[in-house]
Amino acid sequence: MAGPILVFDSGVGGLSVVAALRRRLPDVALAYACDNAMLPYGVREDDWLVARILTVCRAAVAASGCSGLVVACNTASTLALEALRESLAVPVVGTVPAIKPAAGLSDSRHIGLLATSATVARPYTLRLIQDFARDCRVTRLAADPLVGEAERLVLGETPELERIRRVLAPLEALADLDTLVLGCTHFPLLRDQLVEAAPRPLRWVDSGDAIARRTGQVVVGPQRRPAPEVGWVTAPSPALARGLAGFGFVDSRRLVLA
Ligand code: DGL
Repeated sequence: MAGPILVFDSGVGGLSVVAALRRRLPDVALAYACDNAMLPYGVREDDWLVARILTVCRAAVAASGCSGLVVACNTASTLALEALRESLAVPVVGTVPAIKPAAGLSDSRHIGLLATSATVARPYTLRLIQDFARDCRVTRLAADPLVGEAERLVLGETPELERIRRVLAPLEALADLDTLVLGCTHFPLLRDQLVEAAPRPLRWVDSGDAIARRTGQVVVGPQRRPAPEVGWVTAPSPALARGLAGFGFVDSRRLVLA
């Protein structure tokens, strides 16, 4: 029988994509891998990051025996998708900021991109804006502190609303911005807190459902649930094991890198 679909992120952010995959493909077995020892990816240097992502994904693909890989990380996908596809024998689905759908939805034609400092500056992201939001004003906001707040939430702590408010504060002066792209997979986990902290009601757009739809098209023949679902982590902890179990990954294991 074919192996599970492996979902990879630096930390717990990919769990927002897991939630979308569970909704769209409820019978499909998943595995999860995160490189939490090196979290956050969003402030790391590109060459180091490409090598690290290749090492972790190669190890996780081999350990999980997966039938496909979902790179549930914008920071990794906008940098290393091609290298991953060249290096791995399984199909790879990436995650990139939902600029195109957001541009389609905005009434005011002013959209925002909330992502890591790496993602907001990447040539890949600038090309997406150029190709799909040419008639929009696009304001890019680096929001690295939200990664830590989403980690706190999944690891059983309370996110700090004041910190989230400070990240969103620039929106106050951008009165016509009506749509915000959540261009980091950690951020949909904080949706309630983001809505509460935002200076006014906004349209929030993420990539989760589009990735789930694409995964259903690209990866065929994965194992059916209920198989024991494994979470592979580079720095095990009881809190992370509990967080992963909350999303179905009840068997938490250390990922050994070559
Ligand atoms: N979840 C990752 C993303 O979608 C980034 C988090 C990090 O900085 O490690 O970009």
